[in-house]
Amino acid sequence: MRILVAGATGAIGQPLIDSLIFDGHEVFGLTRSDERAEVLAAKGAKAVRIDLLNKEDVFSRTAEIKPEIVVDMLTSLPKEYTPEAMEKAAVKDAKIRREGGGNLQEAAEKNGVRRYVVQSCGFWYAPGVGLADENTPFAFDATPSIAARSRIYAEIERRVLQSDKIEGVALRFGFFYGPGTWFHIDGDEAKRVKEKKFPIIGEGDGVWNFIHIKDAAKSVSQAVYCSPGAYNIVNNRPVQLREWLPAFARYVGAPPPPYVSLEEAEKTLSPDTIYYATKLRGVSNNKAKREFNFEPRSFDWLL
Ligand SMILES: NC(=O)c1ccc[n+]([C@@H]2O[C@H](COP(=O)([O-])OP(=O)(O)OC[C@H]3O[C@@H](n4cnc5c(N)ncnc54)[C@H](OP(=O)(O)O)[C@@H]3O)[C@@H](O)[C@H]2O)c1
Repeated sequence: MRILVAGATGAIGQPLIDSLIFDGHEVFGLTRSDERAEVLAAKGAKAVRIDLLNKEDVFSRTAEIKPEIVVDMLTSLPKEYTPEAMEKAAVKDAKIRREGGGNLQEAAEKNGVRRYVVQSCGFWYAPGVGLADENTPFAFDATPSIAARSRIYAEIERRVLQSDKIEGVALRFGFFYGPGTWFHIDGDEAKRVKEKKFPIIGEGDGVWNFIHIKDAAKSVSQAVYCSPGAYNIVNNRPVQLREWLPAFARYVGAPPPPYVSLEEAEKTLSPDTIYYATKLRGVSNNKAKREFNFEPRSFDWLL
């Protein structure tokens, strides 16, 4: 199939291009950069130089390429993670997902594209008992910034899933780990753990859902064929912060993480950091397993 990938050079884009080429698709990878265009071409994709905020270009290039499927993995997130950098990136990130993705979807709909697959979020679900599934609402009552970003994901999903011109698929990814992500031996979260800047707060009972970047990429290849709708793409092991963080610290050769009481954290750390440490909810991946035999690998650092 002719597949156009936006976000082709990012953390998920790179293994995704490999996976789509391996499956025998004709792949068009979008980028703003000459250098990254060369990387895409070396992988066997057709590199397309474009800024997705330029609507006219998006329309004319989509009409030229005539893809059957469009994959939107657009983000604008900091390569070097800190809570402050994330906060700063939020506006740019929202813009590219809403406006850049909106341009691309409109162009896709106009040009008879059959399916639009979009990146969404699988770790901001409303609190509740047991694992969240795809019918659970997002965390609209979380901290102001997590609630705002949850509303943006919900808005993008509505745009994609409720379109009557295209089959929409939203992949709700857990936290990426593995090569090229923050949660890798050379990633930024490893650095923060080594510097003892990533504490366990209170009981550390926030439940995190991870997904290896290659499994996330493979799920996109599978989403080319699955029933339209939203899918949680997380691994089989939702895990509390107090369990995974010490294991990750050992894996990256860092000292054990510090403990901070909730009271102390409220004085010194951001509401989002406290939310992640204490309020995140575990997520079920049953739908993706049932619908397209999604089979995430086991953690290599949490046995
Ligand atoms: N679920 C998760 O845990 C999650 C999700 C996403 C990202 N992250 C993390 O965030 C970090 C950074 O991720 P990343 O490398 O994917 O992000 P990134 O550097 O923000 O790259 C995102 C992709 O979007 C493209 N893009 C952005 N703005 C564009 C525009 N105006 N026009 C065309 N293309 C545009 C970029 O293309 P060009 O720059 O080549 O033009 C790139 O391919 C990684 O550590 C990753 O693990 C985590």
